[in-house]
Amino acid sequence: MPLEHVTATRYVTPLREGGSLPGIVEADDLGTYVVKFRGAGQGLKVLVAEVVVGELARAVGIRTPRLVTLEVPPDIARYEADEEVQDLLTASVGLNLGVDFLPGSFGYDGSRAVSADDATPIVWLDALTANVDRTWNNPNLLLWHRTPYVIDHGAALYFHHAWPTKGVDAARFAGQRYDASAHVLLDVAGDVAGAHERLAPMLTDRLLTDVVALVPDEWLEQAPGLAEPADVRGAYVEHLRARLNRPDAWLPGRTS
Ligand SMILES: Nc1ncnc2c1ncn2[C@@H]1O[C@H](COP(=O)(O)OP(=O)(O)OP(=O)(O)O)[C@@H](O)[C@H]1O
Ligand SMILES: [Mg+2]
Repeated sequence: MPLEHVTATRYVTPLREGGSLPGIVEADDLGTYVVKFRGAGQGLKVLVAEVVVGELARAVGIRTPRLVTLEVPPDIARYEADEEVQDLLTASVGLNLGVDFLPGSFGYDGSRAVSADDATPIVWLDALTANVDRTWNNPNLLLWHRTPYVIDHGAALYFHHAWPTKGVDAARFAGQRYDASAHVLLDVAGDVAGAHERLAPMLTDRLLTDVVALVPDEWLEQAPGLAEPADVRGAYVEHLRARLNRPDAWLPGRTS
């Protein structure tokens, strides 16, 4: 099943705290979404990382807002008064990422407790996907109805930024250690190696393939040796599989 698809009906407001100027929009399913725009400076790869890591999180039972593909029609940009936003909307006409808006959520700052049961899988997932964006400076963790929801995975899977220049090297990514020292949940997390034993078996080749299949073709950019979307998808699965097989290299606490 692909991601659900919706069309934006109204641009509500920018989220100025987000580096990529994400915005809140209403859509034709009467939902409200945070939009990660295809026309933001970071490019399409961050949208791919959002989908892959967000859906891996969901697959292992970590809460994260529902993701949709979100069409920005040209007239939405036309009626926007703010010039910066208008430029972004104009550059983003087409398929964007929609993240279900969690009204009333609260950005994690340590003042409200997160349990070790919730924290440990999150640290594990971030180590697996090399997500450097869950630090005290940038927690990307929302509390909603008192439970933690992970958001903003655009910085994970950074290996794909090196594809065009350095070629695809799953082994290198697999062996890259993960520095969890600034992770916002490090103090709360328990046995991350135990989480690996429990969660890694859920990420079968089939599941990895299904998750990567959720990324729309048009977000998958060509790279040397990766001419077709199917080749790019295969490379994501290969990198993730290789890293899953080398926990000794990246599990926090395992490396020195
Ligand atoms: N689904 C959501 N529900 C409610 N608020 C959200 C949601 N997604 C994001 N936000 C709010 O918007 C902020 C920016 O979102 P996000 O971190 O995804 O954007 P970003 O541009 O990648 O940010 P940065 O690069 O600055 O971390 C979040 O810190 C959070 O306060
Ligand atoms: Mg963020």
